[in-house]
Order: sequence, then C-alpha cells, then structure tokens
Amino acid sequence: MAAALIEIKDLHGFYGKSHVLHGVDLAIGSGEIVSLLGRNGVGRSTTVKSVMGQVKCTGSIRFRGAELLGLKGFEIAQKGVGYVPENRDIFPRLTVEQNLILGEKKPGAKSRWSLDDMYRLFPRLEERRNTSAGVLSGGEQQMLTLCRTLMGDPDFIMIDEPTEGLAPKIVEQVARYLEELKNRGISVLLVEQKLAIALEISQRIYVMGHGAIVFEGTPADLKSNAGVRKEWLEV
Ligand SMILES: Nc1ncnc2c1ncn2[C@@H]1O[C@H](COP(=O)(O)OP(=O)(O)OP(=O)(O)O)[C@@H](O)[C@H]1O
Ligand SMILES: [Mg+2]
Repeated sequence: MAAALIEIKDLHGFYGKSHVLHGVDLAIGSGEIVSLLGRNGVGRSTTVKSVMGQVKCTGSIRFRGAELLGLKGFEIAQKGVGYVPENRDIFPRLTVEQNLILGEKKPGAKSRWSLDDMYRLFPRLEERRNTSAGVLSGGEQQMLTLCRTLMGDPDFIMIDEPTEGLAPKIVEQVARYLEELKNRGISVLLVEQKLAIALEISQRIYVMGHGAIVFEGTPADLKSNAGVRKEWLEV
C-alpha cells in the first residue's frame, strides 16, 4: 500500500458504558478497495460510524494526515468522506431525482459524477426519477442511497453491507457500481458479510472479531487460510 489516505489507530468505541471497539488498526491507500469482514455484532458498523463522528471514541482517525476525531459528521463529509449506512437512508417524500440532487456537495459544484452517470449505473432509477422515494422497493432504495452518496463526490467511500437482502440481479449491478468506483480511483471500505464479493473486488481484506482486527491480508491470503475463515467468518 502507498501512503495511507485514511489511517485508523488504536480506536476504542463506546455506546454509553458499553465498550465495543477494542483498539482497531486499519489503513486504506489511495485508489484501494478494502473489505472489512466479520460475523454479526463484531463491530464493523461501529467502526465506519466512528469515522463519520457518530460514536464516542478514543484513538486516532487520520484522513490525508488530518485528525477526524472530534469533528462533526458534516465536516467529515466536506473533507471528502462518503458513507452509505446499513439502513437505507432516503428522503421518502422527495422524488428519486430530488434525493440525488440533495446529495450534491454544493449545487452546481464540479463533480466527477452527473445524474446521467447514476442513471447509467442503475437504469431503474431513471425510470423512477419522478417517483417519491418512499414508495420504491428495498433494492431501489439501496440503489438510491448508493447514488446519493456518490453525488457528494467523495474521494473515499464507506459502504455498509450494500447487497444485504437484494436479489441476485441487483447484487450484480451493485458489483458494477463498485467496479466503477475502482476505475475512477475512489478509495472504498466495503463492509460485508459475503466472502465471495469481498474476494472478488478487494485488494486487501481485514477480518474483525470481538471489536478488533484479527486478520489482514490479500484475498489470496484469506483463501489459503482456512483457520481464519473457520474461526472468524463461517457460521
Ligand atoms: N446504538 C447502539 N447502542 C448500544 N450498543 C450497540 C449500538 N449499536 C451496536 N451496538 C452493539 O455493538 C456491537 C457491535 O455492533 P455493530 O453494529 O458494530 O456490529 P456489526 O459488526 O456491524 O454487525 P451487524 O451489522 O451484523 O450487526 C454489538 O454488540 C451491538 O449489539
Ligand atoms: Mg453492521
């Protein structure tokens, strides 16, 4: 990995008195796609929420060398960090297109991405552009959430279980979306539970267990390490 774009060191995270992250260390380079795997409840979502300033934390989260801990969510987003949360986060009363436009950093600001790019990635969104987002199917709402974050033109994007509960055909479109991010040099942290998609798309993989990183390596390393898969991934 070249110089890290984002570097998390000794991160401890808390929900009230409950100590959930126990010293997470993780780094992502420019243009890298990295997956964060692990079983239910190990702290994957808490890690990405911590980067967005949504969890009480100690330790360090540096983005382009500048500390993010202590900043507000909107300040972190303004620095170029995008986040697609687990729950599909849309404005139900607004149309698909209005939701997309609201995702822009500043209306009219120069961006890598246009509305047309979004409609090319997910043609279904174009068909539904004037429909209220609240009546979309779960899969369509997921596409909309992915695209709305992209409209903010992030340099680094964290995506929490984007394919959960989606039909195989939509999973394929999400995989294409991830490929497109890779082609445009955007760094990605993909939180997943599915090993197959992580192996296919990532350059490096971290595995979490009990609030800390228990494995770090390439997809090939993880493929050849049945012990780690058995202890930390398989159910
Ligand atoms: N808002 C919250 N308040 C208190 N505890 C929480 C909260 N959110 C998560 N936790 C707890 O923190 C731990 C880590 O949760 P987290 O959501 O990070 O897990 P995860 O790895 O994303 O897994 P999954 O998405 O499958 O639940 C779990 O024990 C969970 O119960
Ligand atoms: Mg989660």
